[in-house]
Amino acid sequence: MKNLFFFLSCLIAPSILFTQAIQDGQENRSGSSGIEGYTPSAENLEARAWFEEARFGLFIHWGVYSVLGDGEWVMNNQNISKENYEKLPALFNPTAFDARAWVQMAKDAGMKYITITSRHHDSFSMYDSKVTDYDIIDATPFKRDVLAELAEACREADIKLFFYYSLLDWNRDDYYPRGRTGTGIAGRQPGDWNEYIAFMKAQLTELLTNYGPIGGIWFDGHWDQMGWDGKEFSELKVDWQYDKLYGLIHELQPAALVGNNHHLGVIPGEDFQMFEKDLPGQNTTGWATSEDQIALNLPLEVCETINGSWGFNLQDENHKSNTELLHYLIKAAGYGSNLLLNVGPMPNGQIQTEHQASLAAMGDWLRQFGTTIYGTQKGPLKPTDDYAITRKGNVLYLHVLNPDLDKIHFDTFDGKISSVSSFESGKLLAHEKNRYELDIDLKEVPVHKIDRVVVIVLK
Ligand code: GLC
Repeated sequence: MKNLFFFLSCLIAPSILFTQAIQDGQENRSGSSGIEGYTPSAENLEARAWFEEARFGLFIHWGVYSVLGDGEWVMNNQNISKENYEKLPALFNPTAFDARAWVQMAKDAGMKYITITSRHHDSFSMYDSKVTDYDIIDATPFKRDVLAELAEACREADIKLFFYYSLLDWNRDDYYPRGRTGTGIAGRQPGDWNEYIAFMKAQLTELLTNYGPIGGIWFDGHWDQMGWDGKEFSELKVDWQYDKLYGLIHELQPAALVGNNHHLGVIPGEDFQMFEKDLPGQNTTGWATSEDQIALNLPLEVCETINGSWGFNLQDENHKSNTELLHYLIKAAGYGSNLLLNVGPMPNGQIQTEHQASLAAMGDWLRQFGTTIYGTQKGPLKPTDDYAITRKGNVLYLHVLNPDLDKIHFDTFDGKISSVSSFESGKLLAHEKNRYELDIDLKEVPVHKIDRVVVIVLK
């Protein structure tokens, strides 16, 4: 359906392209109107199609918080006053930072894009911003624009670069009314919301003007200004003026994709929908986007950490195994979603070796099985712990994730089957299909602890 949509979109003149309301197929419950009647440009639709094929990206959470080795929420979690937190930039001097090495690491992992924090909730800008001195050039001894260096390295390597941008701010007084978080941070004063919006617009203009073509903007923090009873979000307390913020982005770079980690249905003006630490429709976190709010015709992206932390956390040794990480990537693809997998670089500019090793292992696997992930769509059945299915036209890739199964049974499997074979050996596999059910004998599939891939060709 998505391919059909993109195909049609290319045929129809841009002026009569579908409006956002038709594309996302969802009612907007965010409390923000967004861009009414948003019509994505032809470049934007092309970028969405690229994004959907990409399937795997690198998330980078990096800021002065890395100095404390306690994650990117440390200012809030340790109730560090503004005055004390502002001492951190002077301690941030990541002399081992090498943009090309990071990009090469992502590329070797099979990733097609990178999303990096340009400014997180702590308010610190990791680039040369002219509208604040609280940035990497003016406030650190390092004095290098890491976003500029990354943008160049990405361009050389044909990797797209997206910027994460925090809506929530624990330092600027103009972020007022304040939200639900950061309430224990001393030194915050009342300020002017409209000034804050103007500041964000000025920064977004910088990000979309000074770094060449950008993949998109990844907003976060909307939820800080919503009521929350521990189960559900309720009324929004401020006007984020998304019509202006999103409008500015679409005007400056029509191909740049807008996404917002608000955990709600899509707001008009957004181009993809993201899911934090949950596969689409699942809710292990307790604050996931509900199933009925999943966009029907927009690219999806799930983000996840390798251990439990986004920003560098010295004590977090809860690293997921390579099998867990690959299963997450495969399941995300089975849901028709990208995976944006995170690293939190250390204050010296390097990425912890455990995480480098995980990414290298994922790259090895993708070099062999990438065709069953990139450029695929979701399969006809939802992923389970036993399997996930991806699809390219009339070819289905059945990923058997449970290494103990020697046969697999589906109660309902639509479609007539032309052949069933092992992806690795090409050997045909015995199978039985009646009107509804399908059984496949897996004994002839080469043993693979991570995943056994079966190719089902439909008639
Ligand atoms: C949450 C956290 C934030 C992190 C983001 C990544 O919104 O507040 O720290 O950047 O998730 O998905």
